This record gives sequence, C-alpha cells and structure tokens, in this order.
Amino acid sequence: MTSQSKAAIAEALAEARERTLALIEPLDDGQLNTVYSPILSPLSWDLGHIANFEELWLVQTIGGREPLNGDLGSFYDAIENPRRIRGELPILRDSELRSYMADVRERTLDVLEDVEIESDVEDPLLRDGFVYELLLAHELQHNETMLQMLQLVEGYELPDELAERFSPRIPGTTAREDGESVAIAAGEYETGAPARGFAYDNERPRHAVELAAFEIDRAPVTNGTYISFIEDTGAEPPLYWRHDGENWIDTARGRRAPIDPGAPVVHVSWHQADAFARWAGKRLPTEHEWEAASDRLDGVGHGWEWTSSDFLAYPGFEAFPYSEYSEVFFGDEYKVLRGGSWATHPRVARPTFRNWDLPRRSQIFSGLRCARDA
Ligand SMILES: [Fe+2]
Repeated sequence: MTSQSKAAIAEALAEARERTLALIEPLDDGQLNTVYSPILSPLSWDLGHIANFEELWLVQTIGGREPLNGDLGSFYDAIENPRRIRGELPILRDSELRSYMADVRERTLDVLEDVEIESDVEDPLLRDGFVYELLLAHELQHNETMLQMLQLVEGYELPDELAERFSPRIPGTTAREDGESVAIAAGEYETGAPARGFAYDNERPRHAVELAAFEIDRAPVTNGTYISFIEDTGAEPPLYWRHDGENWIDTARGRRAPIDPGAPVVHVSWHQADAFARWAGKRLPTEHEWEAASDRLDGVGHGWEWTSSDFLAYPGFEAFPYSEYSEVFFGDEYKVLRGGSWATHPRVARPTFRNWDLPRRSQIFSGLRCARDA
C-alpha cells in the first residue's frame, strides 16, 4: 500500500466517525446515558466502546502506546460487561466522552503515519491494512446496534442518508407474483470469503459445500404477506407493530406510521420466521443455500435474513485476530442471518458476511425469505 492508501484509510475513518456522530446529533447527554432496554447498551457505552476498541487496536497494539485512561478499557469489554449492566458502569460520559473519542482519533492518525501496511509486511494485522478495515467495520456495525436502540427513542429522526434507505420498496416486487422463486441446481458450491481481502475469521476458509437442488424466493417476505400469516394463525406481530383497530401501524421511534404492505417485513425473531416459512409450506434456507443463490436474489439489504443454520465454524477455522469476535459464539445457541439491513453500511454487507443472534431476538432489523426442496 502507498501513502495514498493511508489517506484513503484516514478518510474512511473520518467518514465512519461522521456517521456515528450524525446518529447521536439529535440527542442530549441525558438520552445518551439512558438505558432504554436491558438487551441494548446506553449509547454512551457504545461510543466509549467504539473509541476504546480503536485505542486498543490502532494505538496500543500496533502503535505500542500506553492507554490514555489506565484501566478504563476493562469497562468497554463487551464480553466482560453484559448489556444489562452497562448503564451502571463508571464509564466516560458527556464532554469527557467526546474528548476521549477525539484524543484517540488524534493518536490513531499519528500512528497511521508511521506503520507499514503493504501487502508484504510480516504482521497479518497490518498486512493490506487489515486492522484498519477491522476498525472501520467495527464502528459501522456499532452504528447498526445504536440504530436498534434508537428505535426506542420517541421522536428520534434518522439522519438523511439513512432516512432514504429506510423502508424502500423492493425493486420489481409489485409487478411480481408473491412467491416467485429461483431454482438452484444440485451441485458443489464454493462458500466463504477468499483468503485475500478483508473478511472476518468466521467467513473463512472458503470451502466447497454439497447442495441438493432447491428453490429460493426471489424476494423477501413482505409486510402484506406477513399480515395474512398473522391473521390466519394469530401469530405475534413483528416488534413495534400495533393494531389501531383498523390497520397495523409501526410504532418504532414513537411514530404511528402505516405499515407498507409492499415493503419487506423486519423485526421478526427466528421463531417467527421459521413459523412463517412453515405456514407458507416452505422452510428457511440454510446459510449455504442463501450464499449460493445470493447473486440471483432481489431485495437484499432491506432486512437481515434469518437462515436455518446454527452459527458454526467452517472446517479449518482459525480465530483471527482474537477468539472473542466469533469463536466464543459458535454452537447451536445462535442462528445465522445473511444479507444486511437498511441500517447496515455497504462496507459491511457482503455475500459471505455471517451475522448471528439468538433465535428469540427481534430488536434487530431481521426478516426472511423462504426456500424449499426442489
Ligand atoms: Fe464491539
């Protein structure tokens, strides 16, 4: 990499930070410190964690510098500090928090000037600027978690860039019969991220999987079809939906917005998604089926799509750069989601990206598309 790529890194870091700050711009310090839900952090924790993670990797680890605030980092460890207790921690708040974020960034840019990030450097953290891509992805993914929390803030208005992406119609779906599907032939399919380029450890190694012939819906399930399912079975509505006596309305962010029947459904749990698929006479795709069909699918990027797959290591998995990113979550407790949502930054969403969550969760922007055996 050249000094020009360093400039590109600095610019991408600045853009990510701008997006983070745009998200909290309408809020006061009191709102940043409020715990709105036991399963979501107060925003001040997220902000401090974003900066602390940056300090840990880009300043301490690769820059060899001492932490700015002694042991403060321990309060921002996501594994050590479960979400329900984060509001009680002696974390940085208000102006102290803002100056910490700025101080870390200054040091990050200082260190960036001196490090070698060419493709032939020995350290895999620095090779091709991996650790910078990691940090960008981390901040942008926390933006999405923050947006999950912001759904609980009454009157919260999305920044323009996200307001545009929120609730788009799936191109072409209105002209298409619900349930139109794509046939995928039986065979061996490559799955996972190639060895070069940025990806998380859980996306590697790329390997072949054997798939039986299947069909997968060209479009994700819409609100309209989901309403038929609720009315037919008495199933729970998606999170934030209320019935006002006549219609279903969306109450996220304190709104009372009519539900758009043509938009993909979001805020459903894995259990709801699985029940829907069975009601429709279909099933959820496996994550490998989803990936094999991903270049044929419409409507990706509105809501994360639940798959039937448990979050497991690919054969030959190696934890990198630390086992707490994904390895500690492997097992049958978590289900894999694929695609991305309106709140996912395009830099994060890629066909091999594996998101995971507990099957009961619906505060995430999660929907589904159905599949069936051919
Ligand atoms: Fe994090």
